[in-house]
Amino acid sequence: MLMVLINNHFMLYKELSIEQPGWTKLLALAGLATALGLSLPVGYNIGVVNSPASIIRQFCNESITAHYGDAPSESALNLVWSAVVCIFIVGAAVGSLGGSALAARLGRKGVLVICAALAALAALMFFACKAAGSVEMLVLGRLLAGLSAGLTTCVMPMYLTELAPLRLKGAMGVLCPLGLTFGVLAGQVISMNSLLGNDEYWPYCLAIYALPTFVSILILPVLPESPKFLFVVKNQPQAALKELQKIRGVQEELLKDEIESLKTEAEENRKNAGDSVGLGKVITDRSLLLPLTLVCCLQAGQQFSGINAVFYYSTDIFKAAGLTNTAAELATIGAGIFNFAMAVISIPLMSSVDRRTCILFSLETSIAFLIILGLGLTYIQYSSWVAYVSIVGLLGFVICYGIGLGPIPYFIGSELFEVGPRPSAMALGSMFNWGGNFIVGLLFPILKVYIGAAWFFIFAAICLALFVFVRFYLPETRGRDTSEIAHICRNGFASRPLQGSIIDTRNINTENQELEKMNDGNV
Ligand SMILES: *[C@@H]1O[C@H](CO)[C@@H](O)[C@H](O)[C@H]1NC(C)=O
Repeated sequence: MLMVLINNHFMLYKELSIEQPGWTKLLALAGLATALGLSLPVGYNIGVVNSPASIIRQFCNESITAHYGDAPSESALNLVWSAVVCIFIVGAAVGSLGGSALAARLGRKGVLVICAALAALAALMFFACKAAGSVEMLVLGRLLAGLSAGLTTCVMPMYLTELAPLRLKGAMGVLCPLGLTFGVLAGQVISMNSLLGNDEYWPYCLAIYALPTFVSILILPVLPESPKFLFVVKNQPQAALKELQKIRGVQEELLKDEIESLKTEAEENRKNAGDSVGLGKVITDRSLLLPLTLVCCLQAGQQFSGINAVFYYSTDIFKAAGLTNTAAELATIGAGIFNFAMAVISIPLMSSVDRRTCILFSLETSIAFLIILGLGLTYIQYSSWVAYVSIVGLLGFVICYGIGLGPIPYFIGSELFEVGPRPSAMALGSMFNWGGNFIVGLLFPILKVYIGAAWFFIFAAICLALFVFVRFYLPETRGRDTSEIAHICRNGFASRPLQGSIIDTRNINTENQELEKMNDGNV
């Protein structure tokens, strides 16, 4: 009896594993090589400039003094340092805009090779800039690293989800953000003063992320090209089939379903060419006004919540809070660990909790912790325990940010828009995200000199405005059809998306008809 059961179980398992292809060595290798060699460096470059900021600033000071004769003023040096930090973001914005066009021309794998080459070249600049005494090389390195980062965040999720069988798409899709978040943490740890973030070793500290990148350059040639790209974009079914067999590790007969779906997609693609809605049309279409505003505000709001101000400058904040250098670095790493843990936790969270619940709760609590952080930093001189209040505020903010404000803006566009306008709308949202990141990164250090901790009240006020907007206008999107969402949002700011989620469709229609009547009356 037992044997039969086990036997049945085994048969079932075999059947399942045949019908649903899973992990193969090649698939795992593709995930691992790109996560460690390409998306880890993106996060690394964000996290690494925090702790050794004062040391690298002094290098800029010396290099500028040596080249131009005059020592730069405090504010000039602030500007140079902001440029070093921010040019990375400019590069990333450019890279992420050009990524999908390049991926359609050169193939996913081709773009990933460029990403790796740019990252390696950037590392070379970082490595050599101190010996050459050249700030320009440092800035150029940050620009190249940024370009690589933008291309990576655009193309790598596309590549991995196209390689993955249906049931592993989610797992492969999160490898890019996961590698990125882990990279931030790695950057923070390695840039500690006692490790590489010191006067002697900081060029190594900036460049060391290239070790896994070099390994990935060796692995990239054996990785497969995306079968979807070969079949649907390039129209090379034979080549696509060969790659697909390699990735799945099974006979061609067992891949019938997948090949069928590729064929359907290729046909749809041929029929619908030109159906995708351009950027200009998306911006001017009145029925898309509300979802577009929601996506852009959430994307920009994610940055204007001050999360990167916290990550670029947390060591300074902790030092200002009266911690010793080492303690400040450890506290920064603590914040990085919380951030990484939240990114892991948010994966199952996003499949089981409503978007509105997550984002509203995340905003409320973030506002509270930002105010605590701001008050703590303002009254830091008052007593020694106040420093710990600011640290509680900072860590609390990082955790609450990770519940909703961190993950949701990245994908809410795919749930608010139908297929046609989706790519343009999401590209615009992505621009708002990098733009917000850039503005905060540029203004924060400059204005910090004048307004100090009041910055965190500004961040809190922006979060409050976003809260009010989301509270009244964001429809619940989890598990709902995008056509339904488009319908209840089509009247711009006159839409009442929340009532739409409570009452049934017939009532929405009457309500909208009344609205239209009202509008007609007004005209
Ligand atoms: C630049 O370096 C010089 C010499 O080490 C120093 O006196 C000056 O204060 C530095 N300038 C700034 C803005 O830090």
